[in-house]
Amino acid sequence: MATTITCKKVDVGANLARAQHNINGKATTVSSANPSQNGTTRKPSRKAYYLPNDIPEQNRLDLQHQMCKLLLNGRLGLAPVQSPKHVLDVATGTGIWALEYGSTPPTTPPLSLSLKNLTDKHPLQAKNNPQAHVIGTDLFTMQPAATAAPNVSFIRQDVEKEEWKYPHPLDYIHLRYIVSCFDDAQSVLRKAHAALRPGGHIEIFDIVLRPRYAGDKRARALDNWCAAVCAAAAREGRDMQKAEKYKRWLEEIGFVDVVDVELVVPGNAWPEDDRMREIGRHLVQVQPGPLLSLGSYFGPRDLSGVLDGLAPDMLRDMEDESIRLCWPM
Ligand SMILES: C[S@@+](CC[C@H](N)C(=O)[O-])C[C@H]1O[C@@H](n2cnc3c(N)ncnc32)[C@H](O)[C@@H]1O
Repeated sequence: MATTITCKKVDVGANLARAQHNINGKATTVSSANPSQNGTTRKPSRKAYYLPNDIPEQNRLDLQHQMCKLLLNGRLGLAPVQSPKHVLDVATGTGIWALEYGSTPPTTPPLSLSLKNLTDKHPLQAKNNPQAHVIGTDLFTMQPAATAAPNVSFIRQDVEKEEWKYPHPLDYIHLRYIVSCFDDAQSVLRKAHAALRPGGHIEIFDIVLRPRYAGDKRARALDNWCAAVCAAAAREGRDMQKAEKYKRWLEEIGFVDVVDVELVVPGNAWPEDDRMREIGRHLVQVQPGPLLSLGSYFGPRDLSGVLDGLAPDMLRDMEDESIRLCWPM
């Protein structure tokens, strides 16, 4: 499946209690830690990150954040985390998630997207966490000055290549839109596992760069563009469809209670439902940017003209509301 995934690190104490429960005859499954031995070797890519970090990209990331909140009914995450003290936002971008998680008052959930089943299963997190110290890490310094919120700080770090050193075991690690990051995403997830306290949670929110359709009409140029850039990235050792593998990877690393939630999000304003149409309106603004950037990066070096002339058609199709375009997230 995909792409919004929450789970926790095994808590040996809690498992012991569950095992005892078992001895008393109750049917309880106990998951066991199973650290991955998967040391896949990949050739190093020539660039750590394929998207820009300029002001238009920063604005795009902030708009995308609003879209994510619309999608999650105003929430910043789905993991059942209660009053965390130590929180890490990996690859934080502009830091907007970390700042809001640490300090912003709750926002009123807009309208009513049907995430009821989801939230029934998972108790809601508090939307602001003044008790938490939130750290955001990123390759680039594009976050506000540390004074913006006393309990939120930012570290410039290559989270894949550099060692993670935090003074406390973490309660909650959040990663969002990391599809174009990391040659070896599993190594980052292993670091996250090591940095969490037993019982701590990780949450990944990501997109699969493979359009879907709720009707028969397809966006051919978009399909071709996505297939071409994903293939080019794969040749550089970077898996742009990796969101579909997170669940398996997390389980292999030893995380338990892995919940994988697929949200199929409208790619433009085609839905009749007000809320979904609003989400689609946001997505059609934020999605072309990274696709064009990936095209600019891979086109000249690896795609020998495959994308030439395709951009106008791709952009037109993405806006065409007669095409019921969706993105799995
Ligand atoms: C698409 S942006 C998402 C930003 C943020 N998570 C959000 O949802 O708004 C991906 C971010 O990952 C960062 N990044 C990419 N590779 C990284 C690495 N190896 N270490 C740390 N940050 C990285 C980029 O600089 C960029 O800010």
